[in-house]
Amino acid sequence: MRVEIADLSFEYRGSGETRKIFEGASASFSPGGFYALMGASGSGKTTLFRLLTRELKPLGGQILIGNRDLETIPTRELRASILGRIFQDYLLIPFLNPIENLLLAREISHGYAGKNEYDLASQLLARVGLTGHSAQPVELLSGGEQQRVAIARALMGSAQILLADEPTGALDRDNTVQIAQLLASLAHDENMLVITGTHDMKFASYADKVIHISNYGFAVE
Ligand SMILES: Nc1ncnc2c1ncn2[C@@H]1O[C@H](COP(=O)(O)OP(=O)(O)OP(=O)(O)O)[C@@H](O)[C@H]1O
Ligand SMILES: [Mg+2]
Repeated sequence: MRVEIADLSFEYRGSGETRKIFEGASASFSPGGFYALMGASGSGKTTLFRLLTRELKPLGGQILIGNRDLETIPTRELRASILGRIFQDYLLIPFLNPIENLLLAREISHGYAGKNEYDLASQLLARVGLTGHSAQPVELLSGGEQQRVAIARALMGSAQILLADEPTGALDRDNTVQIAQLLASLAHDENMLVITGTHDMKFASYADKVIHISNYGFAVE
């Protein structure tokens, strides 16, 4: 699914000063692509993710997802079937095991999860290279393993776009490379659109395209 950002502008407006983040920013993201957004701290990477998930509303311009205006997509569809999200600190339920974390997400997005979903969860955990951990609470897993669970959880819907804000921010180099390779394979082998934000050059070197946020716009490297 394609994401098209056209002439985007956004600023935070508090009680006092305003903080401009985007002005006339345009970029397109194609399915099958693994993108790394880079830019100084405060440049607007996380803000862009919040605009894509509609936690924030653009001041001007347009965001199209699969040729539909983001504003017109029902929230439930956006969350359950279009976007999958991954976070720096994984945001798993610590006392549940990997399968339970996946099933809980599925129940919330799609309703009761049964045998088919259990099988899907097992397959996805195998897909991200996690087997043999299914009975342990996720808090006992390493950071890299927890991030794999989080990636599998993001795939429990029918997401075609994965949004990952600093997915390797808490990981060491080996795990960073493994997560980068996994995200690249989801883009290339399963035609997903993977958009990440990162400060890590090593991670970004696995992306197909590096997009810098600067001067309130996007610059493709
Ligand atoms: N609710 C808010 N009100 C006012 N300013 C905000 C608000 N949220 C974020 N900002 C400011 O907007 C700027 C952009 O923040 P954002 O979190 O998008 O940056 P970032 O590129 O993700 O940075 P980092 O690399 O540190 O994660 C920052 O200067 C931040 O302080
Ligand atoms: Mg950020």
